[in-house]
Amino acid sequence: MTTVTHPRHSILSSDLIHPSDQEIVLGDRATLEVRLGRADHARDLREIATALTETPRRLPSRFFYDDLGSQLFDEITRLPEYYPTRAEAALLNRVADRIAAETGVGELVEIGAGTATKTRRLLDAFAARGTLRRYIPLDVSEAELRRTALALTDEYPQLAVHAVVDDFSAGHLHGLGSSDALVLFLGSTLGNFEPTAATELLGRIAAAMSPGGYFLLGVDLVKPVDLLEAAYNDSAGVTAEFNRNILRVVNRVTHGDFEPSSFVHRAIWEPEEERIEMRLASPDSQVVRLDELALEIRLERGEEILTEISSKYRRPGVESMLEAVGLTLCDWFEELDTFALALARRAPE
Ligand code: AVJ
Repeated sequence: MTTVTHPRHSILSSDLIHPSDQEIVLGDRATLEVRLGRADHARDLREIATALTETPRRLPSRFFYDDLGSQLFDEITRLPEYYPTRAEAALLNRVADRIAAETGVGELVEIGAGTATKTRRLLDAFAARGTLRRYIPLDVSEAELRRTALALTDEYPQLAVHAVVDDFSAGHLHGLGSSDALVLFLGSTLGNFEPTAATELLGRIAAAMSPGGYFLLGVDLVKPVDLLEAAYNDSAGVTAEFNRNILRVVNRVTHGDFEPSSFVHRAIWEPEEERIEMRLASPDSQVVRLDELALEIRLERGEEILTEISSKYRRPGVESMLEAVGLTLCDWFEELDTFALALARRAPE
């Protein structure tokens, strides 16, 4: 395995970055393809400048996930108040065999795979039917993908893993498998996109799928406000730390001097939009400098920066989003008004 190491293009993780489109052999049945390109740092800077100077100010949520941010999110998934991960895992346990039987595909493609913990239940179900050939995880974290790819080829002797380092929110999502593929987008990550961006992302996913291909979408459901707000305001303060970490990442990308400890974590249910909004409030007025952007941000007393939206869904809304991009709902699996998996299909040619 030969890799050229040079300065990183994206500052989102401490991974090594290789020249774009290089395919790296990781092991017997494991390969890695790097699609994150050189233009990404310029894009990071542009997006931060735009978002921070809007009214109200915001920051793109993808900057949560450097190595520490990914670790903190992992901790969040184990918090007693944070129900979505456990609910989705329980649901997958219950319906994986049915999904395997209904789709019968040979290939699983996962958008935002991470450690692929929940995916194992699906891999088990497909492996038991003897149809599974290939798993294609996409993620921005190369380090995580390498570990996942090697662990999975170890655990599943029939499986080939082709890992792809890419930012699915960024553009080109070409070739999401054959007509024999099931594309997974779990964890209600779709909810972190504004409605128009969410539909646009679903459209790019559908366009990258082959006719006849299947799509499995995990969505968190609308539920009582106390449960929702507790999930994003945990008593151990992990979500608060996760929220403030975005400022550390932004400091690194822009050579900025945000002081994370001078911001207060807020997570509020917005009934109109049916979404949780996470914000960072500045209790005092302060000036923040972002050197690489030659930008000075003057925050007023009490001013907030919107760092994340987390939309909650109802079945009819999900169904029409899917329909709008040419995907037909085949099945709806639901965990007691808590979390749902929508199985959809792109029409065969
Ligand atoms: C990345 C969509 C799973 O919106 O619930 C968790 C991120 N933010 N706690 C979500 C998150 C705060 C999470 N997902």
